[in-house]
Amino acid sequence: MSKPPLQAIPRDIICAADYERHAVEHMPHAAWEYLQGGAAEEHTVKANLASWQHCEIWPRVLADVRGGHTRCTLLGETLAHPIILAPVASQRLFHAQGEMASVLASGVMGGLAVVSTQASVPLEEIAINAQGLLWFQLYWQGNRDATLALMKRAEAAGYRAFMFTVDAPISGARNREQRAGFSVPPEMAHINAQPIQLPAIQGSMSAIFDGLMAIAPTWNDMKWLAEQTSLPMLLKGILHPKDASKAVDIGAAGLVVSNHGGRVLDGVPTAFSALPRVVEAVHGAVPVLVDGGIRRGTDILKAQALGATAVMIGRPYIYALATAGALGVAHLIRVLQEELEIAMALSGCKTLDDIHPNILTASNTR
Ligand code: FNR
Ligand code: LAC
Repeated sequence: MSKPPLQAIPRDIICAADYERHAVEHMPHAAWEYLQGGAAEEHTVKANLASWQHCEIWPRVLADVRGGHTRCTLLGETLAHPIILAPVASQRLFHAQGEMASVLASGVMGGLAVVSTQASVPLEEIAINAQGLLWFQLYWQGNRDATLALMKRAEAAGYRAFMFTVDAPISGARNREQRAGFSVPPEMAHINAQPIQLPAIQGSMSAIFDGLMAIAPTWNDMKWLAEQTSLPMLLKGILHPKDASKAVDIGAAGLVVSNHGGRVLDGVPTAFSALPRVVEAVHGAVPVLVDGGIRRGTDILKAQALGATAVMIGRPYIYALATAGALGVAHLIRVLQEELEIAMALSGCKTLDDIHPNILTASNTR
């Protein structure tokens, strides 16, 4: 049996890793395997974490940073900090209030949360109760009509932008959750979207090419979908710089450099290594967000230095949610923001705009 969530934050929780240590006790084993797991051998899950850790910051001492802050402007909105809650499916697996709690915490902390197509609470209920800015993450619903209907529902509910996830039309085997016999319970799986009908496969047909990929979206669909809304639509799951340029060409309002937390295809580049190339390819045309392995304020500083406008966190806020509900998520965001403030202060940066690539090299000659 897992422990109930805590009502207060214990003194031994001071960083995201502490929430991870606690969280394992506050959810069933199968949910833990689902949360932690990645595709295949999980090389990419590990690489995501290592990539940020291995990058060094060259600090600058004695800088006057009075009046500094972490405010961030993103598609016309001002956020108190650049820490966005990434779309994570089925959050009632981890806490009874699920998305209601995480979105509340994000709003209270002056941030932005992205709600998954696979949220375990109706998208309208989440929006009504939210205190702050919400975007909606879209998955393709097998055809244009069904995808557009979901988009229009989220628009009517007050979501301010769309984040279309392009990297997971199918997912590689996640061994851990399969071994644990896990599948998302039906009462959570289809709260906001109907199950998708797959084409029938016969004889020597491929379940991948003739099944799942036969109803997967293409660039034309993305261009069409972006034209169906006056709200910004970002693409999440871009790694290749050529795809980044294509995304801008079809009207994406922003990009998320991401490998889906290592959950879809093992052995792909980390966001850390793809980010500078994507930033170069888009030339400032649109904001570039990044996720995967962000666990510390120093990671956020490094992401900013490589050209990210903001970062998203996935698993860390679920650790906090499972451990202590909305209170835990709000506390985690506060901790990360403070870690970022310390990292900025000690590298001589007053604002996010001051965080240049040269803080990662000794050529920082300001
Ligand atoms: C995800 N992610 C995800 N992404 C998405 O676009 N739609 C979704 O529904 C989900 N669901 C989901 C569930 C779980 C349990 C996890 C861990 C992740 C991916 C997520 O948005 C993000 O890209 C990664 O979690 C970022 O990596 P970190 O921060 O978990 O290392
Ligand atoms: C996942 C899907 C829901 O990563 O995006 O579990």
